[in-house]
Amino acid sequence: MQGRRILLVVSGSVAAFKALALARLLRAEGATVRAVPTAAGLRFVTKESLAALTAQPVMDDLWAAESEIGHIRLARWAELVLVVPASAHRLAAMAAGLADDLAGCVLLATRAPVLAAPAMNPAMWEHPATQANLAALRGRGVRFLGPVEGAMAEPESGPGRLLEPEAMLPLIRAALADGPLAGRHVLVTSGPTHEPIDPVRYIANRSSGRQGHGIAAACAALGARVTLVSGPVQVPDPPGVRVVRVETARDMLAACEAALPADAAICAAAVADWRPAREAGQKMKKQPGAAAPTLEMALNPDILLTLSAHARRPRLVVGFAAETEQVVPHAQAKLARKGCDWVVANDVSGDVMGGAENAVHIVSAAGVEDWPRLPKEEVAARLAARVAAALA
Ligand code: C5P
Repeated sequence: MQGRRILLVVSGSVAAFKALALARLLRAEGATVRAVPTAAGLRFVTKESLAALTAQPVMDDLWAAESEIGHIRLARWAELVLVVPASAHRLAAMAAGLADDLAGCVLLATRAPVLAAPAMNPAMWEHPATQANLAALRGRGVRFLGPVEGAMAEPESGPGRLLEPEAMLPLIRAALADGPLAGRHVLVTSGPTHEPIDPVRYIANRSSGRQGHGIAAACAALGARVTLVSGPVQVPDPPGVRVVRVETARDMLAACEAALPADAAICAAAVADWRPAREAGQKMKKQPGAAAPTLEMALNPDILLTLSAHARRPRLVVGFAAETEQVVPHAQAKLARKGCDWVVANDVSGDVMGGAENAVHIVSAAGVEDWPRLPKEEVAARLAARVAAALA
C-alpha cells in the first residue's frame, strides 16, 4: 500500500474506536490516510486521536474545508474511500445520496472505489430499511466488509458487529489492486453441476463450493481480477469477484471459454462426468405396473482438459482430484491425462466434501507437496500465494 491515498470516513457507532486501529494498520503498510469523521463519529472518537494516528489534519467541517482543500479536491485525492464504521444512518444517507456534511459530499463526489464496514445493533442491521439501503449501494458498486456475528456493546449478540481491522486488510489491498496477483486475471470453477433428467429432476453431487469460492476470494485478496464460474451453491458470493452462475457442465465450459484469456485457471468444481443423454421435455410420469426407467448417460465435456489444451490456454492450469484411495498415484495419473500444471489432490473418503477442512497434496512435475489438514480458507490462501509465485 506504499504511497496509496485512502480517505477514512468515520461515522457514529461505538465501534468507531476501531477506525483508529485501522488507520494505524494502513499507515504501517505505507498508505497515506486522511480521516473525515462525521459529527456523530466525533461523539465516539476525538479529532485529536484521528489526527495523531493518521498524522494528517482531520477534516470534518464542510464549510471550513471549502476554504482549505474542498470536498471535490478531497474526493479526487482519494484512491479508495473507506467508511469504517458505517452506521445505519450513514448507509441510509449514502443510499439517498445526502450531501449535508463533508463525508456525504465526498462520498457523492468521489469516483474511487468505496468500501463500507457496517456496525450496528442486529435489529437495526436486519431492518428492511437497512437491507434495502445495502442492496441499493451494492447495485452502485459499494463493497461491504462484514459485518460479522458476535458480541455487541450492549449485552446481546448477533449480526452487526464490525469486522476486525486486521480482517479488513486483505480486502482493502484487493480493492487497491495491490498484491502479488495485481493485474492478473484468474478463472476459478466451483461447486457441483446439475444435470437435468427432466424439468424437475437432476443429477448432482455433494460439493458445497466452499473450497472453490475460498480460492476465488483468496486470489481477489491478493489483487487478482477473478472470474468465478459456479454451479448451484448455497455459499455466498466472495467479495470483489465476478460470479457467473451456471447449472450444467456444458454451461460451465461455455462460461469458462467466454472468460478467457486468463493468467491462471483453477478448476475446483466437482463437474458431473456424465449427464442423462436426453432431457425429458415433460416430467417423467410413473406408470402403474411399468418398470423403473433406465437412464442412458452421455459423457460431459472435461473443462480442465479443454482449458489445458486450449488455443488460449492460461499460463497456469490447476486441477483438483477428489479421491477415496491411492490419492497421490491417482493424482499423478490425472496430471498427465489432463495436461494441467498442478493437481491439488485430496482424500474425500471422510467428511471433506461439504466439510470445513481439507488435507491436500500438491502434485506437479516438480514432485509432491503434502500440506497438513487445514481449514479450507487456509488451503485457499496458501494456494493463491503459490499461484502468485508461479505467475511472478
Ligand atoms: O476427471 P476427474 O473428475 O477425476 O478430475 C477432476 C478435475 O477435473 C477437477 O479439477 C475438476 O474440476 C475437473 N473436471 C472438469 N470437467 C469435468 C470433470 C472434471 O473440469 N467434466
